[in-house]
Amino acid sequence: MIPLTDGWGRAIKSLRVSVTDRCNFRCRYCMPAEGLEWLARDEVLSFEELERVVRVMAGMGVDEIRLTGGEPLVRRDVPTLVALLARVPGVADLSLTTNGVLLDRLAGPLVEAGLHRLNVSLDSLNHARFAEITRRDALDRVLAGLAEAERYPALRPIKLNCVAVRGFTEVEIPALAELARRRPYVVRFIEFMPLDADEVWRRDEVLSGAEIRALIEESWGPLEEIPAKASSTARRFRFADGAGEIGFVNPVSEPFCSSCDRIRLTADGQLRTCLFSRREWDLKEPLRTGASDAELERLIRFAVSHKELKHRINDEGFVRASRSMSQIGG
Ligand code: 5AD
Ligand code: SF4
Repeated sequence: MIPLTDGWGRAIKSLRVSVTDRCNFRCRYCMPAEGLEWLARDEVLSFEELERVVRVMAGMGVDEIRLTGGEPLVRRDVPTLVALLARVPGVADLSLTTNGVLLDRLAGPLVEAGLHRLNVSLDSLNHARFAEITRRDALDRVLAGLAEAERYPALRPIKLNCVAVRGFTEVEIPALAELARRRPYVVRFIEFMPLDADEVWRRDEVLSGAEIRALIEESWGPLEEIPAKASSTARRFRFADGAGEIGFVNPVSEPFCSSCDRIRLTADGQLRTCLFSRREWDLKEPLRTGASDAELERLIRFAVSHKELKHRINDEGFVRASRSMSQIGG
């Protein structure tokens, strides 16, 4: 097998697959309140098409698949897709990122289909503030979804993602940190990136991982760093007394592009080699016009050879990505 490598020598091991651009939330750091146009149904790749892309990539050493959206669970029959992908030779790690609102029905079927891991977005433990940030009053349903997910020991660790926005997140930190101590959750704070559809992102709204760490240490004492995989986006920490784990994903203050091993497939079959790409590589057309696996492989290798060296968020004259987060897939 010839591994899939980019032009800078990085091996690509991980594919994020967006299965829909639709979502039942409208998180402020991601989507507009209204007015986003959805993809037409026939533009969205079928399960068979997705399985084929994953199989071809797995043949090149991509062994980690994460399903995302929009909200992946609003697409009908996602457990069927999970079952298809879990059977692809070479797929060692199959995970899903969700807002959690449909988990209470779907956690069981997803585990049964072969899902290994789960990331659930959770920005607040207060009903009013949860509704403020997601524009949906759905905290109870998300907590019910989490409680359901917890019933399946196969799904560990359960990671909770909190997008850290200055002026909003600070007061959430003690309760979220406490949750990491109390339940089998790894709570991860993710720095706000300029991927929001409303384009309100400003540098001074990024609440950095270092600042959050300091706030946690004020209430819980020193955190100890746990070694993480080289390709990990998160720095991992545990509390000094051993209970619970916290992660910091610091793409803005501590970019990790040099060890990036990820590429992304949008719901309409466009390959993106970076979250901040301004160019995409169409796989849908070749998939639908009879391209062979060898041709798909060539296309993918060519696209990946052009993977961006790094994001330019911190550079003068930064230009936003060509799509916002819900259309790309976190
Ligand atoms: N910045 C950082 N993370 C974001 N997400 C969505 N929008 C942003 C943004 N602007 C993350 C959320 C969600 C995942 C799909 O993407 O944490 O869990
Ligand atoms: Fe939906 Fe996720 Fe975007 Fe929130 S962050 S609007 S849950 S896609």
